[in-house]
Amino acid sequence: MSGPKKTILSGMRPTGKLHIGHLLGVLNNWVALQDDYNCFFEVADWHALTSEFANTKAMTGNIKEMVTDWLAAGLDPEKSVMFVQSRVLEHAELHLMLSMITPLPWLERCPTYKEQINEIKDKDLSNYGFLGYPVLQAADILMYRATVVPIGQDQLPHLELTREICRRFNNIYGEVFPEPVHLFTKVPKLLGIDGRKMSKSYNNSIYISDSKEEYTKKIKAAFTDPKKMRKNDPGHPVGCPIFMLQNIYSLEKTGEIKKDCESGVLGCVDCKKILLENFEKGIAPIREKREKINARKDYAEEVLREGTKKAEIAAKKNMAEVRETVFGKAYV
Ligand code: TRP
Repeated sequence: MSGPKKTILSGMRPTGKLHIGHLLGVLNNWVALQDDYNCFFEVADWHALTSEFANTKAMTGNIKEMVTDWLAAGLDPEKSVMFVQSRVLEHAELHLMLSMITPLPWLERCPTYKEQINEIKDKDLSNYGFLGYPVLQAADILMYRATVVPIGQDQLPHLELTREICRRFNNIYGEVFPEPVHLFTKVPKLLGIDGRKMSKSYNNSIYISDSKEEYTKKIKAAFTDPKKMRKNDPGHPVGCPIFMLQNIYSLEKTGEIKKDCESGVLGCVDCKKILLENFEKGIAPIREKREKINARKDYAEEVLREGTKKAEIAAKKNMAEVRETVFGKAYV
């Protein structure tokens, strides 16, 4: 890549250990971007607080588990800045300033907001902070003048709001922030072992940190094509969660597996055996790295402490400019 490196910012709410959907859909992509961009990866604990404000006890442990998975997957503190959002207080300041210029209807019509308010009934989401979730996300991105934001499809409405807020800020005060663009990952959403979307809340996930015994049990019990009752019945690999994993982990063998499943030569038990072997090859190095990281007691915390210091330096510099633009020199 020529010219100065562009800046990337992305983040995750600390929900604890990550599943292989996160690994394949997000982390591998982040890891690949580290060499070509200035990368900031954020632990979005304030975002988690917008819905988990009454359950903060698990937060510290969740952050540690998540960042251990980041490191095991290959995020490198020498290349990327990994930091905790709530430890960089400038995020709160920028969030507040952006909240002044964000019209309420933009937030009220945000599809993710509407959907969650309608669908999530077991949590109280009628708070001010939850409505402002995308404003906080805009502050994360604009704070580092990130121009590229790797996200999943579900986050697109938030990035669009970031762009609108960015334009409005620049219109009112002058060109301060570059407008960011999204970068989608190509990997499709992984299915869980029950055939639904892989998600922690469905209890159907294979975790990066699962031991060989744990994931073997899950894969052996996993849902496959319901029409393939007996070994020799013709199967339908498309939509089968095991075949989805074969596609990723069995690589050049996938074509043969598909053909043999469809023709009834390959039964689900043997198909799972092939997958288990290839999955182990793919996941073992990550699991082993995770174990090594865990053996260095406070390593994840140390990475975050150092990363947060770096993020803070960048945030302070940018906020000084924002303050000056909005209020004039006396405020710097
Ligand atoms: N809202 C994002 C999610 O739930 C997490 C996030 C917070 C984020 N701040 C961000 C993602 C900034 C990209 C950029 O996945």
